[in-house]
Parts: sequence; C-alpha cells; structure tokens
Amino acid sequence: MNRPVDPHEMIQAPSLAGPHEGYMPGFGNDYETEALPGALPQGMNSPQKCDYGLYGEQLSGTAFTAPSHQNERTWCYRIHPSVKHSHRYEKIDLPYWKSAPHVDPDVVSLGQYRWDPVPHSEQSHTWLTGMHTMTTAGDVNTQVGMASHVYLVTDSMVDSYFFSADSELLVVPQEGRLRFATELGIIDLEPQEIAIIPRGLVYRVEVLEGPCRGFVCENYGQKFELPGRGPIGANCMANPRDFKAPVAAYEDREVPSTVTIKWCGQFHETKIGQSPLDVVAWHGNYAPVKYDLRTYCPVGAILFDHPDPSIFTVLTAPSGQPGTANIDFVLFRERWMVAENTFRPPWYHKNIMSELMGNIYGQYDAKPQGFVPGGVSLHNMMLPHGPDKNAFEGASNAKLGPEKLDNTMSFMFETRFPQHLTRFAAKEAPLQDDYIDCWSDIEKKFDGSPGVK
Ligand SMILES: [Fe+2]
Repeated sequence: MNRPVDPHEMIQAPSLAGPHEGYMPGFGNDYETEALPGALPQGMNSPQKCDYGLYGEQLSGTAFTAPSHQNERTWCYRIHPSVKHSHRYEKIDLPYWKSAPHVDPDVVSLGQYRWDPVPHSEQSHTWLTGMHTMTTAGDVNTQVGMASHVYLVTDSMVDSYFFSADSELLVVPQEGRLRFATELGIIDLEPQEIAIIPRGLVYRVEVLEGPCRGFVCENYGQKFELPGRGPIGANCMANPRDFKAPVAAYEDREVPSTVTIKWCGQFHETKIGQSPLDVVAWHGNYAPVKYDLRTYCPVGAILFDHPDPSIFTVLTAPSGQPGTANIDFVLFRERWMVAENTFRPPWYHKNIMSELMGNIYGQYDAKPQGFVPGGVSLHNMMLPHGPDKNAFEGASNAKLGPEKLDNTMSFMFETRFPQHLTRFAAKEAPLQDDYIDCWSDIEKKFDGSPGVK
C-alpha cells in the first residue's frame, strides 16, 4: 500500500511564491536557506555555539583542494551531527541493484539491444528494492563510469533512509510522481522533469502518485555540470536559472529508523533512533536540484545537415580527458526541422562512445515503431546503428518543408565506457529479440550507374 504523504510533515523554510515556491533557482549557486529564523550563522561557518543548539557540519562534495570553479561543499546546521545517524553496519542484499565491474559470463553485451518497458509486477517495491540495473560501465571502486537502471516503485520508504557514497544519481521519471525528502529539503518530481541527487546526501523516497517507473543514471565519476556552449554563447540549451534547489526542511522525529548505504557496490544497513533529515539551515553549493526538461532550448541546423547529437547535451560529467565525457545526458525533444536537401533523422553511425537511450513519451524519429515510452535501447561501443528501412525511405523521399517534430521526448546516457548488460537486462527484462531485424530489409541501391536512386 502506498503511504499517504503529508506535505507538512517536514518543517520547510519560507520561500518565494510562484514557480519557485519551495525552491531556489540556479545551478551550482551558493545557496542559503533556513527553516527557523536566525538558524543560519552569518559571517562565519563554525561559531563556538550555534543558535537553537544546532550542530555545525560540513558536507564535502569535492576534495578540499579542488579548483575553485569545481569546489563544492555545503555547511549544515542540524539537530544531530551525522555521526548520530550512523551506527554499526550490517551487509544486506539488493539483488537487482548492480555495480561495475559486473560482467556476467552468461550474458553477451556485444550487440544492438532494445527493450519494451519493464512492467510492474504483483510485487511491491520501494526506491531501494525497485532499482533494476540494466547496464554497468567502468568501475565503482575507482570512481569512473556509470550504471543505468530502470526503477519500479510502488511504496514509500517509511522510517527508512538511503544514501549512496558511490555515486550521484540522475533521475528521469517516466510514469508516476515521487517525493525526495532529503537532508537539504524536498524535491517533488514528475515525468518531463529530472533530479540530481548528490553523492553522500541522505534521503527517503515517497510515492506521491504511483506506480512509478523511470530511469536512473548512476554516475560514479566527477559530478554532472552544464556543458560549455562555445560559440553558441551565454544562452539556450539548459539555462542555469531553470535548475531548482530545495529550501531547507527538517523533521524532529525520534523513532527507530534504518539508514541504508551504498558503498563500493555493496549495501549496508545501520539502525538509529531518529530521523536523519534534521538539517534546520544550510548554505553552500553542494545540493540536490531538479530541472524541467520542457525548459530545455534546443539549438540546431537552420539551413542544412544534421549536427552531431552533442548539440542536445543537457548535462555532462567529465572524465578527465577534455571533450570525452564519463557521461553525457542528451535530450531529444520537440523541435522544428527546417534543414534543406538534408537527410533529417539521425544518420547511420558507429561510435566509440556507448549509447543507452530511453523514451519518456512519444515517437523517436529514427525508430517510429518499437521504441516506446518506458522502453530502452542500447547501441554499445563501436556497434553500428541508425534508422530502420521505413525511417530511411520516408526521410529520403519526404517533401522537405518546415516540419514540427511533435510528441517526442527521448534521452541518451552516453558514456566513454562500454556498457555491460546485467543478467536482469539479458534474461528477465522484456528484450525485443527481433530488434536487430529492423535493419534486415534495407536494400542495396547501388548498381554502378550514376544518379540518385
Ligand atoms: Fe549513435
């Protein structure tokens, strides 16, 4: 059963009314917020005694000595220090949540794959038990690579909390509404929005409207940032003001509680005597955010040709090699197609990067059939892919005028590392065995004679 959610359960800081109610705009801003007046120290971080009897604590998202433009940390003023939210640890098993390196000897990852939406079952799932890993890449222990997951969530976490020391989570809902009640405040999330939950941040996930399905990119490496726009300039694509961090919210609840921690690919539980969501005030630039994908302003071809899909990058997580991302999060949304004398859908392609796609809603232009909302496809490192025959013939013979590509929102998690399928993805999830056949009827047109065929 879904737990009824009381939105007033946590005491929230006052904030602006209107579209930013409950949130503060900006990406990587130096935010500050307090749920009780005067709880946030001014002019210093660590007073001898904090007001209200709060404990001061720093959450470091980067090394102390990271370059200034990348340095992220947040100061929390809380009812208990985090050491009170951590006791002895006991290992537990979450059988569907896998971490890299994870290479199943019975699974062939080399191939072009596509899945129907992973269906809900009779079984109820929380955020933790409902996380079903599809692919892993890199190595969680050396903090490179990623995992892709499909989540199926029916039940709220009750007196149960979670954090991942391994990763930040990029959450892409496809169905249902979730609430992330975090140490730093509340994020409500619905399809066509995304959220970034930072590494180390404690939270619980509640179901506002279920059942819920969506996608998660678990980033083991350097944090997501906004891509450089280069000659595009200071505007368009994802604009920083459209990201929203929550205002402070806390609860003062002394009840037996469980905190689950993901650490080096394994899960551990610790029992504590209170809610860990007890941060009354905070300031800093290491915070969860949400973003409305409908505010993404696509930039593209306005005369001819089809630019590389990197033109649609929403967020990028660098790998240390300039221009070669650990992960790019790329969005294919509604837009106008106006290119003249051009094959407009994505071209045929082989890529050193590995491309995992998900469909949020509608039809994707290179695959009008078979890639359905909730579905996933994988075109792994150096595996050829591209339009099916119908998409090719349609786009090759279309009368080209301005055309609105409507009712479409798909995304890609693209990584420099090959992606390995889990046993769940290969054996249990609804794999479309005939996906590879979508290219089988592409004809040979060449006959040695010149001219357009
Ligand atoms: Fe591609």
